Amino acid sequence: MLCLGIETSCDETAFALVESGRRLIASKLISQTEVHRAFGGVVPEVAARRHLEAFNPLLSELLVEASSVLAVPASDVLSAVSAIACTNGPGLIGTLLVGLAGAKALAWALDKPLLTVDHIQAHVCANYIGTELEPPFLALVVSGGHTQIMHFKSYKEFEIVGQTIDDASGEAYDKVARILGLGYPGGPAVDKLAAQGNPQSYNFPEGQVPGYDFSFSGLKTAVMRAVENPRSDLAAADVAASFQDAVNRVLFRKTVQCAKSYGVNQIVLAGGVAANSDLRSRFEKVALVEGFKIFRPPIALCTDNAAMVASAAFFSGHEADLSVGAYSRR
Ligand code: KG4
Ligand code: ZN
Repeated sequence: MLCLGIETSCDETAFALVESGRRLIASKLISQTEVHRAFGGVVPEVAARRHLEAFNPLLSELLVEASSVLAVPASDVLSAVSAIACTNGPGLIGTLLVGLAGAKALAWALDKPLLTVDHIQAHVCANYIGTELEPPFLALVVSGGHTQIMHFKSYKEFEIVGQTIDDASGEAYDKVARILGLGYPGGPAVDKLAAQGNPQSYNFPEGQVPGYDFSFSGLKTAVMRAVENPRSDLAAADVAASFQDAVNRVLFRKTVQCAKSYGVNQIVLAGGVAANSDLRSRFEKVALVEGFKIFRPPIALCTDNAAMVASAAFFSGHEADLSVGAYSRR
C-alpha cells in the first residue's frame, strides 16, 4: 500500500510517500520558521496562507522525486498511490483546513480513499519508518503542544497514562528561549546553548505532580526569576543547561518508572522535543544499563513531517468521507 501523506497542522507544509507504513519513498517539506521568527511564534493566519501557496508546487516536487525511486514518469505517480492521508487534528484549525481541503480534492479527483490521522499518533508512528518496531510499547510524546506518556497495546489501541497539566514540554523550551533572548524556535537553541553550560548551576524545581503527569509552568517561572534577579555569575548557558536538566530529568524518570510498572521493555520517543540531544542520550544510556529497547526517529522525523502521517494512515488511519472536518484539540 502506497500512501500519500499531507501535513499542515502548524508551520510545516509537507508531503511524503510511504509504502506499507515503513518504507519512505519520497519526502518534501517547507518550514515557515523564518516567516514567523519576526513575531516570536507562529501566526496562524500567516501560516495558513503560506500552506496554500506552497501546496501545489511542493506536491509537484514530491512527484518528481518519487518518479525516480518508483521508476515511473512523475505524471503517473499519483495513479500508483493507494490512499490520500492527512492530519485533521489536533493543530491550528486554519492550517489544518488547508491540508484537509487539498487532501479531499486529491482523493475526489483521483477516486482514492481519504484517510485522516491524529497528529499525536502520527508522531509516534514516525518510529515505524525504516524499523521493525511492533507494539506493545510505551511512547513519550513531547512536542510544542503536547506532553504525554502513551501505552500502545496494539497498532490502534492505546491508553494515555500521563500528561502535562499545564504547559507542554516544547512550549517550556520555547518560553525559556524567549526569556534568554534566544529567539524562535526555542528548543534547538536551548539544546545548543545548554551543551556549554553546567546543569548543576541552578536547582530548578520539578513540578510536584503525582503519578505519571507533568507540570512545567512553575519551572518556567523559576527560570524567569533567576534571570530577572541575576546572580553575579549569571551565565545564560548555565541557566539553559539547568532548565534542560530539570525538564528532561522528570520526563526520563517517569517514563522509565512507567515502563517498569507496565512491564513494557520498548520505549519510543516522539515529537519535536525528542530531537533534544540530552533527552536522547539519557534514554540511550538506560537502554544499555537496564536492557530497554529504545526507538527515536531521526531528527527530521521528530519534528512535524508528512512521512509520519503516511505511516499513521497505514497503521491507524480512519477512512473518511468528504464531509470530514478538522479539530484543534483532542
Ligand atoms: O512536534 P513539533 O515539531 O510540533 C508540534 O506538534 O508541536 O514540536 C515542536 C517543538 C517546539 O516547541 C520546539 O522548540 C521543540 O519541539 N524542539 C526541541 C528541539 N527541537 C525542537 N526542543 C528541545 N530540543 C530540541 N533539539
Ligand atoms: Zn507535531
